[in-house]
Amino acid sequence: MKTKLSVNINKIATLRNARGGNLPDLVQVAKDCEKFGAEGITVHPRPDERHIRFVDVYDLKKIVTTEFNIEGFPDEKFLQLIEAIHPEQTTLVPDAAHVLTSSEGWDIEKNFEFLKTIVQRLKLTQTRVSIFVNPEIKQAEWAKKVGADRIEIYTGDYAHQFSTADKSELIKPYTACALAAEQVGLGVNAGHDLNLENLNFFKEQVVPLHEVSIGHALISDALYFGLQNTIHQYLQCLK
Ligand code: PXP
Repeated sequence: MKTKLSVNINKIATLRNARGGNLPDLVQVAKDCEKFGAEGITVHPRPDERHIRFVDVYDLKKIVTTEFNIEGFPDEKFLQLIEAIHPEQTTLVPDAAHVLTSSEGWDIEKNFEFLKTIVQRLKLTQTRVSIFVNPEIKQAEWAKKVGADRIEIYTGDYAHQFSTADKSELIKPYTACALAAEQVGLGVNAGHDLNLENLNFFKEQVVPLHEVSIGHALISDALYFGLQNTIHQYLQCLK
């Protein structure tokens, strides 16, 4: 099955913000990612706007021609942004405002009423709603109950153990979670710390896998290989 590559461009904004000007140009980079084969653009505006600013999201909306995926914690400001932008996909992430990066998925059962209300509200904007979860069968089942369209499986633990663990054991919760999602009629995305070493095995083993969103490693690889060549290498891993 086809797995789309969505490039997370947060790090481009981090670099730009370091000097206060417009270098690198986030909008141009998004256009180039698409030109080089990316099948989606992901951003994660955080309340402190330390990388993606809310105004960036409006600028990107005008030029993204593939799939625009906006991820973040669903506070009122985030929800209003989604209602204004109507991205193809919204990914709900349970990050506290101060965290460095997402490091776990939702406990959907515990946050059931909160998430259900939010999913219902987002559905009015026609956006596809994906919920970031740890690789657990029960989260796929709860995601269905809460009304989501997809789950995004957190792959940080997979990535961190990839070079040392028994890979056939390591991948088991991810394959089980993806299968459980498919059985209840949900699509499956994945992301966090995926890279050129660990992506191909994940793609081979986890079915279905509709989309991966990759930022940190891809942008870091682009320093050595260039953006076009790097995106091609990631696309190769997904073949
Ligand atoms: N998915 C989610 C929900 C994230 O928060 C992030 C990081 O912004 C990613 C995917 C991408 O992770 P990475 O930058 O490690 O590729």
